[in-house]
Amino acid sequence: MKQTASALPDSAAIAPSDYVIIGGTGDLALRKIFPAFFYRYLDGQVTDAFRFVAAARKTGTLDEFIAKLRPFCEDAIASCQDGEAQFAQFMKLVSLTTLDVGTGKGGEDLKAFIDERISDARPVIFYMAISPALFGASCQLLQKVGLVTPSARLVVEKPLGHDAASAKAINDELRAVFDEDSIYRIDHYLGKETVQNLMALRFANTIFESQWNNTSIDHIQITVAESVGLEGRASYYNHYGALRDMIQNHLMQLVCLVAMEPPAQFQANQVRDEKLRVLRALRPVNPEQLSDNLIIGQYGEGHVNGTKAASYETELGEPSKIDTFAALKLYIENWRWAGVPFYIRTGKRMALRASEIVVTFKKRSHDIFANGATSSGDLPNQLVIRLQPQEGLRLQLISKQPGPGGMRLFPSELNLSFDDTFKTRLPDAYERLLMDVARGNQTLFMRHDEVMAAWDFMDPIIAAAAEKAPEIYPAGSFGPAAQEQLFDGTNAGWQAPVIDKE
Ligand code: BG6
Repeated sequence: MKQTASALPDSAAIAPSDYVIIGGTGDLALRKIFPAFFYRYLDGQVTDAFRFVAAARKTGTLDEFIAKLRPFCEDAIASCQDGEAQFAQFMKLVSLTTLDVGTGKGGEDLKAFIDERISDARPVIFYMAISPALFGASCQLLQKVGLVTPSARLVVEKPLGHDAASAKAINDELRAVFDEDSIYRIDHYLGKETVQNLMALRFANTIFESQWNNTSIDHIQITVAESVGLEGRASYYNHYGALRDMIQNHLMQLVCLVAMEPPAQFQANQVRDEKLRVLRALRPVNPEQLSDNLIIGQYGEGHVNGTKAASYETELGEPSKIDTFAALKLYIENWRWAGVPFYIRTGKRMALRASEIVVTFKKRSHDIFANGATSSGDLPNQLVIRLQPQEGLRLQLISKQPGPGGMRLFPSELNLSFDDTFKTRLPDAYERLLMDVARGNQTLFMRHDEVMAAWDFMDPIIAAAAEKAPEIYPAGSFGPAAQEQLFDGTNAGWQAPVIDKE
């Protein structure tokens, strides 16, 4: 049965809040943050009582800001009949102010600006859309001018450090000014609808829980494939690479959600406690066994979606040993998961953009159809959770082929496409996360100890990877051939995500 999108539920209502985006005229603000607010405005979740301040060293005029922002709001404008009028109305909620967090210039003005407009009781959310190197100075400035009030909240996002030591330094700077309860560390993967659905799948259905362990599950694969390359971020990316940019945060969070124990309640600290337990149960990767557990690669030239693509080094303009692909085999040492390998991988310039989690169950222990099964009828059950695009769930079952000829078995699928089922646009991760900050809900944000535990696990792996030369893979492939070695000793192998033509 198809369901249509319902009107905004009562539970979505949010008290009017004020957002100050520091770095508010930059790329992240224009591409992600303001379009997310505008979508929420169109939905009625953000009302005319909200206020948005874009603070930056050089702001220009509001008209110039609107002209820069508009291209990123086109889809939203086109999504409703009075989109133009709504955009104009929304922009009346936005102001610009100059602020130099390096020198502190503009801090007093920001304070006066905020004091003039809002009451103490309203949440004031400071979003740091700036380099982490400036987080500490920004927090101190906010404190100095008296903006760190009980209703103030702080939003930061990756890169939260380059390694455990630098992550600790950043965390210390934030926590010297804001309480942990007021700090919202974004990992935007947690805001994706399908990632939240993973928790609904596991903890709102009874049928999976009894199977969700090492008795029933053979192994788990997580692939986050991207078709894009450097996207003009060379100076950042060439210092980070796939292990730091994607594995330490997004993929680790996915591992946590797949593997965590059910919290007693869906409550921020309970969820985060369970995720932390997973991170702490990861078996440290012994550097001597690194080649059995880690493969890194870098894209060479090739073709992506039929278009010629340059190699990473050509895009970068210099030689580099950085990893644009990483695949890792992990073990979680607890009763539920002992002995179940988790294979995780991510890469840029891969054949397509697709992220999915594949849970492969163990084969049947005894086959009463041994004489009739075709080789494909011998396949294990699999649950495929497609995170993006074409979000949904597929459960691979074995059925009987119709018609005469005996018990001929073949694999078939139960397919839940979120698009067909819910007939609604899936909000961007930022929409959910930005609203959760105003709501004071930290469930989908990382606590400082989670960030640290992920770095503690990754640091020795990253250090050892730095000694290896990445294997070159052709742009438009699924990464280096050597990644199959991770499955050594098993007859499994990486499963490439398949997407229908969009
Ligand atoms: C970011 C990484 O955190 O996530 C980028 O820095 C990456 O390198 C992006 O492209 C992927 O996000 P998404 O939502 O497009 O899967």
